[in-house]
Amino acid sequence: MMLVKLGGSLITDKARLKTFRTDRMKVLAQEIGMSGVEMILVHGAGSFGHILAKEHKLEDGYLNEKQLPGVSHVQRDVKTLNLMVMDALIVEGLKPVSLPPSSIVRFNNGALESMDYGPFKEYVRLGMMPVTFGDVVLDSEKKFAICSGDDLMLWLSKEFKPENAVFATDTDGVYPSYPPAEGGKAIEQLDWDTFKTIEGETARADVTGGIFRKLRLMFDIADMGVETWVINGSVDGRLMKFLMGHGAPGTQISRR
Ligand code: IPE
Repeated sequence: MMLVKLGGSLITDKARLKTFRTDRMKVLAQEIGMSGVEMILVHGAGSFGHILAKEHKLEDGYLNEKQLPGVSHVQRDVKTLNLMVMDALIVEGLKPVSLPPSSIVRFNNGALESMDYGPFKEYVRLGMMPVTFGDVVLDSEKKFAICSGDDLMLWLSKEFKPENAVFATDTDGVYPSYPPAEGGKAIEQLDWDTFKTIEGETARADVTGGIFRKLRLMFDIADMGVETWVINGSVDGRLMKFLMGHGAPGTQISRR
């Protein structure tokens, strides 16, 4: 079993509100189909989530009732994105089933607290492909919270112990500085000491915490013995090669 996240910057244009990369998603769906591997798929929200979530300060949890239309809006928008991902997968003959975190995940004070694994298990047993995504969820303390696709990758890894956790993004991997330097090369093997030398944005880049939080979650996944990679899903054939075990350039994350 593989756990794959299609990043929001891969399947959407993150700078332009609700812009889906239809052609890219088609290629990714074809590659997933051709690989034939059993998987759980996660996708990010990109410009269907981050822009409006930030506008309504949803990452802070409940501040006032004026945010509530924002909760509705962002939940609706990430579902719209999910439907387009589902369509692309179905057209390629895959058997995806959508499991929205808003119904099966709970946060407590900004951290994931529980997740209903039951539906994932049953659909996998049926030979189907669960698909879940970055969403707005209930939070026992803060009333609501933003659940990122990366949080889902960590929790799904805990339960399913996949062989690989693959983060497909729109760059060649993890870079020594952020934003990456012109002509800079991705790091092949990212260990904890190298991670500490990565320079750049410490401010929150987006509502789910930017690159450093993502990387910390990836180290947590790797610590469970799951091979964890960041690869470039915007280069044709890379995801398929990787899924089929033929190796592809990218960054492997491992604490040591
Ligand atoms: C963000 O999910 C969810 C919302 C903003 C509602 P992710 O953090 O997984 O999305 P990307 O991959 O960064 O776009």
